[in-house]
Amino acid sequence: MTPTGETVPTRADGRVVVLISGAGSNLAALVQAQRDEGYAARVVAVVTDNPAAGGLEHARKAGIATAVVAPSDFSDRAAWDAALAATVTAFHPDLVVCAGFMRILGGPFLERWGGRTINTHPALLPSFPGAHGVRDALAYGVRVTGCTVHVVDAGVDTGPIIAQGTVEVRDDDDEASLHERIKVVERALLVEWVGRLAHAGWSVSGRLVRVGR
Ligand code: GAR
Repeated sequence: MTPTGETVPTRADGRVVVLISGAGSNLAALVQAQRDEGYAARVVAVVTDNPAAGGLEHARKAGIATAVVAPSDFSDRAAWDAALAATVTAFHPDLVVCAGFMRILGGPFLERWGGRTINTHPALLPSFPGAHGVRDALAYGVRVTGCTVHVVDAGVDTGPIIAQGTVEVRDDDDEASLHERIKVVERALLVEWVGRLAHAGWSVSGRLVRVGR
C-alpha cells in the first residue's frame, strides 16, 4: 500500500496491467491509445477472473500477455486474492487498471497493489456503487449520470476520485442504451487519465488525488 501523500512515480514506459471480466471495450481503447508513441502508458498484460472474457481477444490480437486467475481454482477468497496479486506482480506494473473487473479486491491484493490500482465505474460516485450502477441510476430517475475513475480501496467503489464524466439521461433510455453512451465518455476519460497518471505519477492525500508532483 502506498503511504498517503507520497508521490507514486512511474517509469518512462508506464507499465499497466488491466484487470477485466467481460467485453473489454475500455481495454481496447487503452490498447488503441498506445499505438500513439506519445502516449505514456503501455498495457503489458491483461488479467481476468473469467476464462471466457471477450476482452482477452483484444489482448491476444495486440500481442499482449494474458493470464486467467479464476476463483473456482482456489480453496477460498484469500487464496484467490493472493494468487491475483502474485500474477499481477509478475508483470511489474506501475499502475493496475480495473476495467470492467467485476470482483472486489481484498486484503492480500491491496496490501501489494493498493494506491497503484484504479477502477472505472459507470456512475457518478458516490451515487450508485456496485455491480449495477447504470441500472440503479436509471431506476432512481436521475437526469444526469456518468462515469468515475477512482483509486481502489477496501470498500465497494469508495476510493478517492480521480476524474468524472457526465452523461444526460434520455426519457427513452433503457439500461443498455444508457450504458452505451456512458461507455463512450468512459473510454475517453479512462484513456486520458491513465495517460496522465503514467506520465506524471500521482499522490493521494485523504480523498484528494493530485497528478504530478
Ligand atoms: C464498464 O462500463 C465499467 O465501468 C463497468 O463495466 C463495464 C465494462 O465494459 N464496471 C462496473 O460496473 C464495475 N462495477 P467493458 O468490458 O466493455 O470495458
